[in-house]
Amino acid sequence: MKIHLPLKVKKDLSYQIQIGNNIFKDLRKIVLSKFNPDKAIIITDENVFNLYEQKIENELIGNSSKFEIIVIAAGEESKSQQTRDELENKIIDLKPTRSSMIIAIGGGVVGDISGFLASVILRGIRYIQVPTTIIAQVDSSIGGKTGINTKHSKNLIGTFHQPSFILVDFDFLSTLPYEEYLSGLAEIVKSLLIASKSGFEYLEKFSEKILNREEIYLQKLIKESIRTKAQIVAKDPEEKNLRKVLNFGHTIGHAIEALSNYKIKHGFAIAEGILVESYLSFITNKLSEVDLFRIQYIVNRLTLDKNLRKEFSFNDIYEKMTYDKKKTGDQINFSLLREIGKCEINKTVSKELIEIAYNH
Ligand code: GLY
Repeated sequence: MKIHLPLKVKKDLSYQIQIGNNIFKDLRKIVLSKFNPDKAIIITDENVFNLYEQKIENELIGNSSKFEIIVIAAGEESKSQQTRDELENKIIDLKPTRSSMIIAIGGGVVGDISGFLASVILRGIRYIQVPTTIIAQVDSSIGGKTGINTKHSKNLIGTFHQPSFILVDFDFLSTLPYEEYLSGLAEIVKSLLIASKSGFEYLEKFSEKILNREEIYLQKLIKESIRTKAQIVAKDPEEKNLRKVLNFGHTIGHAIEALSNYKIKHGFAIAEGILVESYLSFITNKLSEVDLFRIQYIVNRLTLDKNLRKEFSFNDIYEKMTYDKKKTGDQINFSLLREIGKCEINKTVSKELIEIAYNH
């Protein structure tokens, strides 16, 4: 016997990304009036909590008894199966219902693990992202990719679960340590390279001001990166095709991060990935030499080129890449540049050519 189960699910998952200065104070009203959860579970990390405890208490929690707060250790180590287990138990202890929600306040680690928990607790509850780092503001908070790391590679366990709302308040960036700031610039460089030639030209023109943390220039690029990402995710939320362009620089970058046991900051690993995958684009995908030089110049100018890949042999990197999700059968898929502002997906490249690009 065969029973056909027709299942054509269409859901409107649209959400707002609110961007600005000093807007965190608006979140309380948005949570309580717009989403009206019976419980709002804030997840943050020690760094953010130490810096912003008063702000969270005064501007978000106030005298409402709906809010609970859970603080995890800061750092990529927290994006682990162990922290996931601990958090699951802590959240279940709070007796959430399907009308509860999670509010993630922090960088990519807090956002990714909180989103993952929101997707599995009671088979899915709502969550809000309040990204506090550049990487989280321009990339990881947007688009509903959630996940945790395993010893093999990044984000191998995860889900697609879109947030209900994202609040990007530039004021959080004022407390970012400079290294974290630079690491964030790498993700902006990636966004511009794949889809915004004019944004990349702006970065070239004002790189000095951006290095000096002149806010107004950075904010323009953050907005451009968010717009780019939102457009891509809207067209391909579950990475069936177009969204793969966002993986530019990440095939090599993730392997470097995983091999370093996540000690190397995401952005610096991605900067290495951008350099290697741009060279690969030059030798296999007709990226012009002029564009290659421009990319190399800007990565150097922003002091993102730390030559980290020399610490890892190509064979170890290649072995890590075989765990990556960007793999079909035995082939490793790259998203490669055709020109600055234009990226192409599903480019499989031989191991020999990847090695040449890695060692160039
Ligand atoms: N960080 C890549 C993506 O969201 O697709």
